[in-house]
Amino acid sequence: MLTLGIETSCDETALALYQPEHGIVAEVLHSQVEQHQAYGGVIPELAARDHAARLLPLLQQLLKQAGTRMQDVDGIAYTRGPGLAPALLTGACFAQTLAFIQNIPAIGVHHMEAHLLAPMLNAEQQPEFPLIALLVSGGHSMLVKAERPGGPYQIIGNTRDDAAGEAFDKTARLLGLPYPGGPALAELATRGNADRLALPLPMPAGLDFSFSGLKTAVRTLLMNMESPDDQNRADIAAAFQQQVVVTLVNKCRAAITQHRIPNLLIAGGVSANQLLRSKLAQLDCNVYLPELRYCTDNGSMVAYAGWLRLSHNQRTPNLDIKPRWPLDELQAV
Ligand code: KG4
Ligand code: ZN
Repeated sequence: MLTLGIETSCDETALALYQPEHGIVAEVLHSQVEQHQAYGGVIPELAARDHAARLLPLLQQLLKQAGTRMQDVDGIAYTRGPGLAPALLTGACFAQTLAFIQNIPAIGVHHMEAHLLAPMLNAEQQPEFPLIALLVSGGHSMLVKAERPGGPYQIIGNTRDDAAGEAFDKTARLLGLPYPGGPALAELATRGNADRLALPLPMPAGLDFSFSGLKTAVRTLLMNMESPDDQNRADIAAAFQQQVVVTLVNKCRAAITQHRIPNLLIAGGVSANQLLRSKLAQLDCNVYLPELRYCTDNGSMVAYAGWLRLSHNQRTPNLDIKPRWPLDELQAV
């Protein structure tokens, strides 16, 4: 079943074709980062307008790359939520219209399930289930117990305030770095000393996360420095990154111990962070990571998640989008 995946939940327009026998056949992506940089964050209406303008040319590029035609596509998957409502609507309208014209099924995919399934695209090392998943993106930080690909998913830890990626973005902004802050802050941190300045370790009880206190501590630190020089900024970036990574690793260790599951999967934009990847690899369990290009938003993970659900006869018959959609409300396949 050749499945077209369409991702438009935020600021990437991304499409891919997945076929179970071959894996990902082709993928295309346009990032709107430069458009939103002037505002320091994503403007939903601008994002939607750009998705609408780019979807058709990107689809044509994708089909050309794959050497195939729309008539050969058997099903269409698109991101139904969670995400920015105007941006989600463009993908839903495009996908449902295309499915109607071609008379093929359409499925609205949960964006965080798509992230969770991204390591399944790794041909060498398929994740073993049940597993504990750490999902860390711009909008979410959570620990999830996954029985099998397609659910059921049980949320065992959640963010109480800022998501991990959001904390990176906001702290990067305090340090004068451009949006999106995660990669820029990680780059600055390579020139810093993580142990020179003291920042708190954000560790609420249980498996929940809280990162807003850490961000506030950075703001206080910066206010107390008259004019922070490059070395000060690099040291702050390194200390911040270290505290976030230590927190995430500690929570993962607690989750696999408490639930007696020796399989850990990490996904979402922050899973691209090299310090996090290297520290998690040292845990005493199986660790599954997406390839770097499948950490941040992409069409391939949507195509895969959609194929999984379409092959279990799930369909989305309408244009309803779900800007807020708790992962544990998702029907298992
Ligand atoms: O999954 P994603 O592409 O979009 C959402 O679903 O939100 O995640 C984007 C988030 C941003 O907050 C970005 O700053 C963060 O992932 N990010 C990183 C890195 N690369 C992306 N954070 C830390 N280190 C990175 N290398
Ligand atoms: Zn995402």
